[in-house]
Amino acid sequence: MEINCTENELVSIKKVANAAQALGMETYLIGGFVRDKLLGRETKDADFVCVGDGIELAKEVAKQFNPVPQVDVFKNFGTAHIKIQNDFDIEFVGARKESYNFDSRNPDVEPGTIAEDQNRRDFTINALAISLNKNDYGKLIDPFNGVEDLKDKIIRTPLDPLKTFSDDPLRMMRAIRFASQLGFLIEETTWQGIKDSASRIKIISQERITDELNKIILSPKPSIGFDLLYKSGLLKIIFPPMVDLAGAEYIDGKGHKDNFYHTLQVLDNLSANTNDLWLRWAAILHDIAKPVTKKFEEGHGWTFHGHEVVGGRMVPKIFTKLKLPQNEKMRFVRKLVELHLRPISLTKENITDSAIRRLLFDAGEDFDALMMLCDADITSKNKQKVKRFQDNFQMVRQKCKEVEEKDHIRNWQPPISGELIMETFGLSPSREVGQIKDALKDAMLDGEIVNTYEAAYDFMLQKGNELGLKVIKS
Ligand code: CTP
Repeated sequence: MEINCTENELVSIKKVANAAQALGMETYLIGGFVRDKLLGRETKDADFVCVGDGIELAKEVAKQFNPVPQVDVFKNFGTAHIKIQNDFDIEFVGARKESYNFDSRNPDVEPGTIAEDQNRRDFTINALAISLNKNDYGKLIDPFNGVEDLKDKIIRTPLDPLKTFSDDPLRMMRAIRFASQLGFLIEETTWQGIKDSASRIKIISQERITDELNKIILSPKPSIGFDLLYKSGLLKIIFPPMVDLAGAEYIDGKGHKDNFYHTLQVLDNLSANTNDLWLRWAAILHDIAKPVTKKFEEGHGWTFHGHEVVGGRMVPKIFTKLKLPQNEKMRFVRKLVELHLRPISLTKENITDSAIRRLLFDAGEDFDALMMLCDADITSKNKQKVKRFQDNFQMVRQKCKEVEEKDHIRNWQPPISGELIMETFGLSPSREVGQIKDALKDAMLDGEIVNTYEAAYDFMLQKGNELGLKVIKS
């Protein structure tokens, strides 16, 4: 395994080494940068650990650059951070002997040696260090066979997992995140440690948990991470509504599908085509209300009527609980959850242009995202069934394309404004204005009128007449 750095990275590392040597401070490159370089992955930041004061080293490093960059100091944590141009961040910390307490306001910062510092890191693959010291510059210091674990694709704690996880319970989620992100396996004792320590996650702030959860969601095959979260007991604590999806109930020999694994399949299908975090969240939440809407109907089997509407209503609550943003991202997820049955339902009917227009109108600019979600939602063990659904779905897509090219519905803005309606009939803002606008929209979507100003204007006059209104300005 070898390390290939960019020119920009090499320059920065050399400057750190110069500064450290000028201060006579033992210093190492450590953690994610070393791991990712050995794996040939992209790197955006590098951590340096020194035997001494990390903040002092950072200030000395800054002096090596022209112009001198800003040093952000985090006194509470004894760390400092410099943003180098070209999107490269470097971080400094003094080697520590005791617990890291990553989220504590009063971190334990008892100074230690590099070996003691490596002991206190989360995983063997994250404890790898490269010396920047004169006597052994470039030497890899690997006390726990981290390189072997990298080759074997193993996540393992350097110490007893119970100790490592009690130092920072978020590391349980990090273990699962790395397994999902890198496609690694969690070693058995480490896995047992996670299962035994799962309840300790409760002491971790929601922001840190959600940050890791989002990284799991963004991994190439997020089902790996979710399955591990589920089996470890962590998911039940951090996101119970998702666990409620698990399992299948049987009545009179009739069962329904396990909606947890179905959701994971949808998420994986979708993730093969998009890296959009919010679209992936829509996949996670699309069936979230199935457990609360589930019914067994005699002669019919299991139904989940209205789960898309109830699910949509659950989205803001889930976003609040998980401290996800309460903004257009949340509204996007809600909209997709609410609409996720619509395109598929069109495959069952005789598709009318009007139904297609309504779908295009309701989905608007999120139409492509919705279609991706629905495509991913076609899952079944029966290959023929999948094929049939996909073919039908392809037909809906084609039809949507034709109607959109003809009628331009997706970004439809009413050709007649509320102001014009009020001026024409001498109205103030009132129910009639809304009625005319709605009727106009319906007429256009139902294909009664074409999507032009003239047609809309005539329609407005006709509708006004029906409502008994008099034209006072034409
Ligand atoms: N670390 C740790 N325990 C944590 C967080 C971090 O031991 N809870 C150590 C690990 O050695 C880790 C290093 O601090 O490699 C840097 O942490 P961070 O930047 O959060 O993660 P990376 O490992 O760099 O990975 P990524 O950038 O993908 O988050």
